[in-house]
Parts: sequence; C-alpha cells; structure tokens
Amino acid sequence: MNLLQYCSIFVLIVVSANCKNVPSVEEVCSKLLSKDLKKEISSYKDVTNEIIKYVREGEFKGVTYDELAKFVDTFGPRPSGSQELEDSIDYMIEITKKEGIHDIVTEELEVPHWVRGEEKITMLEPRTKDIALLGLGKSVSTPTEGITAEVVVIEDFTELETKSVEGKIVVYVPVFTTYSDTVPYRSQGAARAAERGAVASLVRSITPFSINSPHTGSQYYEDDVTKIPTAAISLEDADMIKRLYERGEKVVLNVKMTSTLDTKISRNTLVDLKGSGNPEKLVIVSGHIDSWDVGQGAMDDGGGLFISWAAPVVLKRLNLIPKRTIRAIFWTTEELGLVGAYDYEERHRAENGNINFIMESDEGTFSPTGLEVSGNQMARCIVGEVLKLFKSINASTLVEKGEYASVGSDIGVLTKTGIPGAGLLNENEKYFWFHHTEGDTMNVESPEELDLGTAFWTAAAYVIADLSIDIPR
Ligand SMILES: *[C@@H]1O[C@H](CO)[C@@H](O)[C@H](O)[C@H]1NC(C)=O
Ligand SMILES: [Zn+2]
Repeated sequence: MNLLQYCSIFVLIVVSANCKNVPSVEEVCSKLLSKDLKKEISSYKDVTNEIIKYVREGEFKGVTYDELAKFVDTFGPRPSGSQELEDSIDYMIEITKKEGIHDIVTEELEVPHWVRGEEKITMLEPRTKDIALLGLGKSVSTPTEGITAEVVVIEDFTELETKSVEGKIVVYVPVFTTYSDTVPYRSQGAARAAERGAVASLVRSITPFSINSPHTGSQYYEDDVTKIPTAAISLEDADMIKRLYERGEKVVLNVKMTSTLDTKISRNTLVDLKGSGNPEKLVIVSGHIDSWDVGQGAMDDGGGLFISWAAPVVLKRLNLIPKRTIRAIFWTTEELGLVGAYDYEERHRAENGNINFIMESDEGTFSPTGLEVSGNQMARCIVGEVLKLFKSINASTLVEKGEYASVGSDIGVLTKTGIPGAGLLNENEKYFWFHHTEGDTMNVESPEELDLGTAFWTAAAYVIADLSIDIPR
C-alpha cells in the first residue's frame, strides 16, 4: 500500500475531501509555473546541450579527471590546518587565473589542526591480535604505555545506559543502515561513553563494506565530560570482538594513540564569474578542498571541488556569461566541523539575501542523476523544470526537501537560514565503501562520470543564474 492510498483511507474518516486527490509534483508545478516561464526554461535546451557536448566530447573531455588527478597526486590528503591544504589552495588559485578568471578572493579564518601520531590497538585476551584502527578527529592521546582494559560491546545508546562500563573500553557495533542513522556512534560515542565512566571508546566503522579498512571521521567531545581516546576499527575486527564477547569470553585490548591539536589559519576561496546583468546576485557552486589525512581525498571531496572549479571555467571558455554571478566556493575545514561554512555565513550575513541559489557536491561525483532541493514549492518547481533539460544524460531527478532543510553539509549552514539550494544527486551507492579511508583515491573516480558531473553542474548553474526571475524564497 502506498502512502497516498493510506492517506485517503485514513483521512476519509477525518476530513473527507482533503487528501483524496493528493496532487503529484507535476500537477502542483503545472499550476504554479506560468506557460511563459516553462517556455523560457525549455529555451535553454540548446545552450545546455552545447555545454554538455563541450564537456563530454569537446575540448573539456577528460579535463576534470586529469586536473583532479594532478591535484591529488601533487598534494595528497589536505587535512585542516596543514601546509598541504594551504599549498593546494594556492594551486587552485593559480590554475583558475590561468583560465583568465581573476575575480578571486580568499577569506582567512582560524581552523583546528589535529595531527595523527602513532596508533596501535592490540588485542591481548583471549589471544594476541593487531586490530586495524584510525583515530577519530581531535581524539586525545593515551598515556605512553597505552590504555589496557576489558571490552564492553554496545549495540546502541539505549544499551549503554543499562551496562556498567566504568573503567572499560566501549566498543560500539552499530550495523550500518544509513549514514545519518549510524554516524552518531562515531560523532558522539566518546562523549557518551565517557559520561558513563569508560576509559576509551571504539566504533565499528560507519560503512556497509570493508576489506579490513577502518573509516575515520569527526567526533565531538562535550565540555563537561572527560575527553577519552577514540577510534574507528574495521567491520571485521568489530564483528569478531562482538562474537567473542557474546560467547562470554573476556576481551582485553591495549589502545595506544598519540596526536596533537592546535589551531592554524586557513582560507575559504571564492571564484567569481561576474554576471552580465545582476552581478550582485549569486548562484553558488561549491565543494570542500580539505580532506581527511588518509587516502587522497579524491572522492571526498576532490570531485566536488573540481566540478565546482570547472563551472566558471567552462562558462568562461564558452563565453557564456549569465545574468547573475556564478561563484565557486572551495570550502576549507568541512571535515573538522564545517568551520569554513560557518565563517562564510557569519561574514556575509548582511548580503546573503543576494544568494539566489546555492549548490554543493560532497557525496561523490559519480554519474549525476539530479538535485536534492531545499526551498519553497515554487523554488522546487522551477528547479524541477530546469532538470528536465537533462533528460539526455539521465540527470532529471528532483528530490524535494522543504524550506530551511539541509541538502549538503557545508551549504546546510546557509540553506537552514532559508536560502534555496541543492545537493548533487549521483550514483553514489558505493560512496561509503571508500569514505574517510586510505581507499579514497583516484581509483574510485571515472573520467566519463566526472565529465557528466561537470557538464550537469555547469549547465544547471548557468540556467538558474540566467533566468529572468530569481529563485523565490
Ligand atoms: C541514460 O539511460 C539510458 C537508458 O538506461 C542509457 O542507454 C544511456 O546510456 C544513459 N545515458 C547516460 C549519459 O548515462
Ligand atoms: Zn566531504
């Protein structure tokens, strides 16, 4: 039974007429969008196809992949506060200037600089075994000799309340369902375990798949709770520890971790292709330039960074200057707490009313399928109509989120203030296999899929930036 049927049966009793004919998106939008506006949007078909052709078959074919590969091979991972990150920002500015785009601004801000040292977990009982791990962001160090303690396996936070974990190492073993459902065990696990007296906390990596690969990520201590060392372990080791524990075996681990934490100055980078009619109005495309300290940060978020870099570059090369300004933003320090995005929102608060639409790609740049849109009904209908221009590349899916909804990590900071925006939808079913691991390298990326991403991102931003009307809010 689908929701509509359920709705009509249920509501029939309560307020009969109301739910009987719940209109589809198509019906709602056909009432909201004027014939003229639909005609105007469909008139962008030729320019959309020109962009797609230029990127997929013309001079830009393979460029996104090649440039991304050169970038990640040169700088490697780009953790917040590192010199590599700052050098990579300088490099992005340099390659943008080479394209004849000189409206580039960097905005300095203070960011955390957490450096992973040595990390080792040894299972001491019931037998000796090395446990694969990656410390979580900002984790504190252990004493030199490490922390040796017995394990308590915890399946969920409810169970944590019922078990004694005083002086123990908590091992969270949530089975991956969705990222948002399971990630709290990584992000809040240490704080919650420490509150109950645990001496360290480990989490089964937040991923559906593993070849003994731990996945790092951010975690947040709470001010009034002891900071305990915390790390992610592989699915294989977590599940083995769980099986041993459930058989009643005493599992003892020695956890040794070192790290340092201070602050540094980093930069958000803003690249503008000035609009021809209303240059003060902005359509933003964005991705984050920082990454975790493992792998190459090719997928997270090198791909999003490079399709966003490519949008003004491709338009400039094709001499397609929309009415509104296209601004590419390379966010700094997404991974350690959206620090760049918060800085941008605050710094530009007085003029953020000029953001007409804001886009972000930070969940992979595999074949694009459409956009997840935050905004009012009219805004969503307009974007849905624009997406119809992308049927030829199968990127017409509109996923509707309400006003103030988050449709991306960095841009969520802005869309939750009511600015309409969109996150890239793509065939990212395997995204979390590689996310925050040594496996996030160019081997995950495909030239053809990146070309589709660049073509879609560029053309969608162009059309929205050139329309005769603003995206309403
Ligand atoms: C779009 O989907 C069709 C049908 O599945 C397929 O033949 C075509 O290759 C796809 N196009 C792209 C660009 O992926
Ligand atoms: Zn990311």
